Amino acid sequence: MLYGNEALEELGIVDGINEIIATTESHGKVNAAPLGIIKDGDSLYIRLFSGTHTYDNVLQNGWFVANITHDAWLFAETALEDLTPQYFERREGLPVLKDAEAWGLFECETFPLDIVIGKVQLVKGEVLRRDFRAFNRGQSLVIEAAVAATRYMALRVDSYYEELMKLQRIINRCGGPREREAMERLMDRVDSFSHI
Ligand SMILES: Cc1cc2nc3c(=O)[nH]c(=O)nc-3n(C[C@H](O)[C@H](O)[C@H](O)COP(=O)(O)O)c2cc1C
Repeated sequence: MLYGNEALEELGIVDGINEIIATTESHGKVNAAPLGIIKDGDSLYIRLFSGTHTYDNVLQNGWFVANITHDAWLFAETALEDLTPQYFERREGLPVLKDAEAWGLFECETFPLDIVIGKVQLVKGEVLRRDFRAFNRGQSLVIEAAVAATRYMALRVDSYYEELMKLQRIINRCGGPREREAMERLMDRVDSFSHI
């Protein structure tokens, strides 16, 4: 087990925006959703937009678990949907994604402004497996597509839908079957939302 902010790099949290999947909990129900942990030198914080389960749970409990994973499919899935309980396991009593490569428990001190800015610090964490692979454009673009999809759902601006269609073309060319499936599922959800 690793402890404190000194272990951030070991867990893969480096300068810039670290896209992780946050697991949080409310009344025994585990929630997972993508979240960015922003590291700027010694400063470490998150920006939480209201109206999400993650926002409510972090404000209520003051913590979240950061699941570090390269699996873009999980980002696309958790951006718009809930995961079923079989995706999670308990480590040290905390809800962790079974497929995470590492996880870290972050405590969060929140400052409600127009959006909530939370100063966070690493309490403890664990590397579960060290994964490496060649860089894949399709994988990165699934993350971009998940961001565009959440914005499209929230703001319903057409340019996000156009971006999604452009991203899908490149993902179909550069990604593997898992990335193509992630994108297809994302588009299905966006399309069914558009028709409401
Ligand atoms: C890659 C990625 C990064 C995201 N980062 C943030 C973030 O830093 N803060 C935030 O409030 N929402 C962020 N989102 C959007 C939330 O994940 C999204 O609103 C989600 O539906 C919230 O789900 P929940 O209601 O289960 O918490 C991000 C989405 C993606 C795909």
